[in-house]
Amino acid sequence: MVTILEGDALETLAGLTDPVELVLLDGWKDLCLPVLRLLEPRLAPGALVLADDTTAHAEQLAEYLAYVQDPINGYVCIGFPVADGIEISCRV
Ligand SMILES: C[S@@+](CC[C@H](N)C(=O)[O-])C[C@H]1O[C@@H](n2cnc3c(N)ncnc32)[C@H](O)[C@@H]1O
Repeated sequence: MVTILEGDALETLAGLTDPVELVLLDGWKDLCLPVLRLLEPRLAPGALVLADDTTAHAEQLAEYLAYVQDPINGYVCIGFPVADGIEISCRV
């Protein structure tokens, strides 16, 4: 079962109250980091965050990738080499 929250993700996701266990980031690339930061207070330990197109749009995702790959920010990451690239980040 899914719930579709229609509208600007930066607004609709701001109202979430339940823990988030899985995030797929596949919107415009400049939104990946703002959406992740918005959801961070709700991320459950062990939550997975998948960002699509990481090799195809490496330049646009540079800030996002630097953030999740810096251990100080609380993720363990692996680049998954399929299609346009997916960064898988586990909240620790
Ligand atoms: C690259 S497309 C991918 C769509 C879908 N994940 C897919 O694979 O078909 C990016 C989508 O993000 C949507 N988008 C961009 N900014 C958004 C925002 N602030 N809130 C919600 N969706 C947004 C766009 O309308 C577009 O449909």
